[in-house]
Formats: sequence, structure tokens, C-alpha cells
Amino acid sequence: MSTTTIATAKEVFDLLHDDLRAIEREFGNDAVSSVKAITEISDYLREGGGKRIRPSLLLLSAKSQGYSGHGAVRLGAVVEMVHTATLVHDDIIDAADTRRGRPSANTTWGNAKCVLAGDWLYMQAFRVALEERNFRVLDLLIGLTQQMVEGELLQMETLGRAVTEQEYYDLIYRKTACLFEVTMRLGSVLAQVSGEAEDLMGEYGHALGMAFQIVDDVLDLTATEEVLGKPVASDLREGKATLAVVHALEHGSAPEREAILTVLTDQNFERVTHDEILAVLARNQSVDYAMSAAFRHADRARHAIASLPDSDFKRALLWVPDFVVAREK
Ligand code: IPE
Ligand code: IPE
Ligand code: MG
Ligand code: MG
Repeated sequence: MSTTTIATAKEVFDLLHDDLRAIEREFGNDAVSSVKAITEISDYLREGGGKRIRPSLLLLSAKSQGYSGHGAVRLGAVVEMVHTATLVHDDIIDAADTRRGRPSANTTWGNAKCVLAGDWLYMQAFRVALEERNFRVLDLLIGLTQQMVEGELLQMETLGRAVTEQEYYDLIYRKTACLFEVTMRLGSVLAQVSGEAEDLMGEYGHALGMAFQIVDDVLDLTATEEVLGKPVASDLREGKATLAVVHALEHGSAPEREAILTVLTDQNFERVTHDEILAVLARNQSVDYAMSAAFRHADRARHAIASLPDSDFKRALLWVPDFVVAREK
């Protein structure tokens, strides 16, 4: 099939269906502990669904580079476990009460148990990754974990104030895009591809991950909790300035800037409402600005894999950036 026709969601789903099921089984078997709370919390999160975009990318990366072994299922489960562990921790840090359309784990089990369950899941991901007996795999995962933790900590230092675009991009690389990059690189490691070819896969993951978080941040501002399955307007309530807000702070009038800073410092909508902020963003076309940045990153991702040999997997990889920027949740 030609790479000029972009795949559809159904085609991509059919292409990965069996492997994604195997990854669910692997994750289910891996996340079992003799301590009940750990198994309950990880089962609860796994059964809550989720888009499974990271394991899908792992499969597509490995397969588009000619790999066909069990390692892709194993590492697919690993990246989803790492992701799940970070969600457990993130919801504690953000004091979020919903996730994947259900009460978040911290609301049900409390923060203390969830911190520990998240730690356990993280380490279990490493234990499973170790089965590959490949130092490159561990090297990538350790660097990733440190980036993610640094990202969450750096973000805390920015709460309640304006940030520059550069700070924003640095944060979202660490907290989100780095995992997308590592996911794509792990596919190369499995396929025994290194050097420039691996870097290009990494570049795809990096750019796609940036687009993914920019869109997540836009959805936090514009979506409904019903559709999103997690709290909305939560970034502003936590004092987090995301790209559209950064744009409005830089381009808005003095009173508009003041209104945004009020919400960021108050960390609530008591003096300035969510609707007032949305009106400021609309007047400055700030959401459009953020979305065009997401589109640019999506283009960069597609561009990075231009030289990959033609295959259904490549077609799917060319489709994913469209999915990421068009998604509603
Ligand atoms: C949520 O990730 C955390 C971010 C990096 C924005 P996803 O949007 O992939 O969450 P699920 O797995 O589909 O629930
Ligand atoms: C995602 O940031 C960072 C993670 C690594 C989980 P967010 O705080 O925006 O993620 P959501 O919106 O809660 O999923
Ligand atoms: Mg959060
Ligand atoms: Mg968010």
C-alpha cells in the first residue's frame, strides 16, 4: 500500500489489535502483587481504559523498522506501566478527583497508598524491561524517569506566575514528550537500528509528544469534563500557565493580563471567572495560536519519518499526528 494515503483510525486499530490485546494481558499479569492495594489500584487504572497511544507507538516504531519479536509487546506494556505510574502520581500532585471518566485512584485509596502503588508500578516496569537484557533499554528508561520527575518539580516552581514560551516548551518536553521520544527509540533498539535512523524516530516521538501535550493543555481550557473524563480548567486552578495563556499574557491588554494573573495567583475563579478567561483567550486568538503550534509539531513528526521504508506501519505513523491534533479527549 502506498504511503501517500493516510490510514484511518479503523485501519490502525485493525493493524495493532492482536498486539494491543497481548499488551493488555502482559500488563495485567505484570501488575500483580501479593499486597492487595497495589493490584487493585493498577487493575482499576488499567480497566479505566485510556487511549493506549504509547504502546501503539512502540509497536509501530518496532514493526516499521522490521522487528517482529515478543519484545514489542513486553516494552509496550512497560511504557504503558510507566505512563500509568506517572498518572497516579500526577493526580496526587494536581489533587485531581477524576481520571478516565471515573474517580481518580487517590480519591478512592488516598494519597499515601497511591504514592506507594505508583512507585511499585514504576519499579515493576523496570523489572519487566530488564527481561530484554539490554542496557540501552534501561539507559533510556532511567534517563526518561529522571526527566519526568525533574519536569514535575520544575513545573511546581512556576506555579502562580507567568512563564516564557521557552519554559513552557522545556516543561512539556520533560513531562510528556520525552516518554513519546523514548517509546519511539525503544522500537529502534528492538529492531537493532541505531545512529541517525534512531534519532529520526526519536525526533518523531519528541515532536508528536509536544503536539500531544499542547493539545492536552488546550483541551483543559476548552473541553467539558464529560468528554475529557478528567477535570477541566484545572491547569489555571493549579496556577499553571499553558501555551494559549502564555500567548494571551504576552499579547493581551493590561486589564486582560491582570485578569489572567489574578487567576494564576488566586488559583481559583472567584474574582475572575473561567468564562472571562475564555473571552480573553478568544479576543487574542490564543487558542488558535496554541493549535497552530500543535499543527507545526505534528508536521515535524511526519517529516521526521519521511525516509522510513513504505509499509502499513509507516502509514499508521503518518496518521497518528492527525489523530493527536484532532482528538477531543
Ligand atoms: C494523559 O495522557 C497525560 C498527559 C501526558 C497529558 P493520555 O491522554 O495519553 O491519557 P490516557 O492514557 O489516554 O488516559
Ligand atoms: C501530564 O500533565 C503530565 C504527566 C506526566 C502525567 P497534566 O497534569 O496536564 O496531565 P493530565 O491533564 O492530568 O492528564
Ligand atoms: Mg494532571
Ligand atoms: Mg492536562
